[in-house]
Amino acid sequence: MNAVEKKVLLVGATGGIGGIATRQLAGHGAATALAGRDPERLRARGASLGGLPWRTFDAYDLDGCARLAPWAGEVLGGLDAVVVAVGVAAFGAAADVSDASAEHLFTVNALCPMAVVRGALPVLPRGGVAVVVTGEIVDRPPLGTADYAAAKAALAMWLRVTGRGARRDGITLVDARPPHLDTGFASRAVAGSPPALGPGADPEEAVRHHVVLPLLKALES
Ligand SMILES: NC(=O)c1ccc[n+]([C@@H]2O[C@H](COP(=O)([O-])OP(=O)(O)OC[C@H]3O[C@@H](n4cnc5c(N)ncnc54)[C@H](OP(=O)(O)O)[C@@H]3O)[C@@H](O)[C@H]2O)c1
Repeated sequence: MNAVEKKVLLVGATGGIGGIATRQLAGHGAATALAGRDPERLRARGASLGGLPWRTFDAYDLDGCARLAPWAGEVLGGLDAVVVAVGVAAFGAAADVSDASAEHLFTVNALCPMAVVRGALPVLPRGGVAVVVTGEIVDRPPLGTADYAAAKAALAMWLRVTGRGARRDGITLVDARPPHLDTGFASRAVAGSPPALGPGADPEEAVRHHVVLPLLKALES
């Protein structure tokens, strides 16, 4: 399976999953544009793959999130697919999670990806695809993850309903639910300590299985 000449926007390209997806998709021949929060790491990641175009955004700037797909369509000369791998965790019993942390979790994990996809729907052509990473947590939320899991579940429901409408326009939305991975994600939590999660799955294999192959398959269908 390849993606020769397919044009793909990677949102969260500085992250573990976003970085692996960027590299794997480039290996399949896709032309990619990168979006992330940190300009220096974006520049370095783009340079390591031959000088990919990049743009910064912050999850709290929802208008900026919605402008990412139109930007990618301009710099790539069209857009076939979007991958959204933005997120942050916080852990702890619900009574110990502050309202500020809960707002942060819902902004980064739900409102930002929703805004990115909302901005992408008018840009993607018939046959276009958006793969949005939620996570296995939607199906199996451990204790101590109520706010993070609720934000991911909200995103998953939004994708489910929006995906039904998008299908009428020939656009596929994929809700990617990888298990816990060794990307260091849990250790970057904005509050609390993660519950015992056990060893993480191999990120390369999980990104291939949950993100890249479903994206390529949907583009081909
Ligand atoms: N790793 C896992 O175990 C796992 C399992 C299932 C699902 N997921 C989901 O997969 C996604 C990516 O996870 P990952 O493992 O790649 O974690 P990661 O390496 O920490 O990547 C998270 C990404 O989100 C970005 N981000 C965080 N806060 C942001 C903000 N305010 N504005 C803009 N960007 C922001 C980060 O930007 P910076 O690089 O600038 O921090 C980074 O690009 C998340 O949605 C996570 O919930 C992860």
